Amino acid sequence: MLCLSSEQEPPDMQCEHLHPGRPGGSLIEDVRRGLLDSPRSIPCKYLYDEHGSKLFERICETREYYQTRTESGLLNDACTSIIETSQPEQLLELGSGNSSKIHVLLDSCRKLNLDCSYMPLDICEQAVTDACRILQHKYSWLEIRPMVGDYIHSLSSLASAPGRRLYVFLGGTIGNLEGPERQCFFAELLAAMNPGDWLLLGADREKDPTILNAAYNDSAGYTARFNLNVLNVLNRELRADFQVEQFRHQAAYNTRLKHIEIHLVSQQAQRVSLQEMKADVHLHEGEKILTEISRKFTYQGLNELLEQHQLQVAHHFQPDNQYFSLVLARYSP
Ligand code: AVJ
Repeated sequence: MLCLSSEQEPPDMQCEHLHPGRPGGSLIEDVRRGLLDSPRSIPCKYLYDEHGSKLFERICETREYYQTRTESGLLNDACTSIIETSQPEQLLELGSGNSSKIHVLLDSCRKLNLDCSYMPLDICEQAVTDACRILQHKYSWLEIRPMVGDYIHSLSSLASAPGRRLYVFLGGTIGNLEGPERQCFFAELLAAMNPGDWLLLGADREKDPTILNAAYNDSAGYTARFNLNVLNVLNRELRADFQVEQFRHQAAYNTRLKHIEIHLVSQQAQRVSLQEMKADVHLHEGEKILTEISRKFTYQGLNELLEQHQLQVAHHFQPDNQYFSLVLARYSP
């Protein structure tokens, strides 16, 4: 996949690679569908190669990006209640990245004397193996089953294992999934879930557009670098020749559609060749490539989204400023 590790991993940290249960999800296919079409787009998962994953961690530390901080606060306050309610035997984290958020949940399991294993799943193999090495060091008793793959298209391959699972999907990443992708995600998730399994979902909320716009245009410029980095990914993986300096980061809240739209804007008319695909792309000055959508939800809207998919909301946590939601729901078909 995107970031294979160069060194041989110790056997216990070898990642299992998940295979898509549905078509879609390979870079060439995705780029053919998105970039050669108009309006142009690149799926946001390709933002997270090794460098992109690191840049995203920098974004999370910026003053403007309130989400990570807010969610951690909620998680700290709610972890005991979450674990007590869901009584998990397995924690399966979708888009686990550096796994920094799972520590509080593991600590709660420990405190409540629950024997729970951990299954991280991320698109970036390097992120998973690095995170697992740190976790295994801190929690020597923990059984870890690291996985690499795309959680939109491949979750159903994790179906029908015994043991109650808590699926952990944090960071507001649900907001990246729109339309058919979101349908596919929920279909795959429900196919993997047993009745009585749980989902812990973190989602960003609608709020003053000034705050949202600032969060995606941090003054240190990490979001811009993160966005532009996807062109380096295509240059490397598809032998393309994007000139990164010829593009500009653009992120803005669409108040009608209630989402942030993130684009790369071509600064001049240019031709890019994608050797791996034997294709050329002609961009005109000002032409935009959509790289990410980040939907913002209302309290009610989130509850409805979950209930629509037979996920019964047990707890809905939010801070006083209502900036972010953490929802615990039980699969009750
Ligand atoms: C991790 C996908 C939730 O949409 O806010 C941050 C990614 N993109 N800044 C988000 C992101 C630009 C982030 N998610």
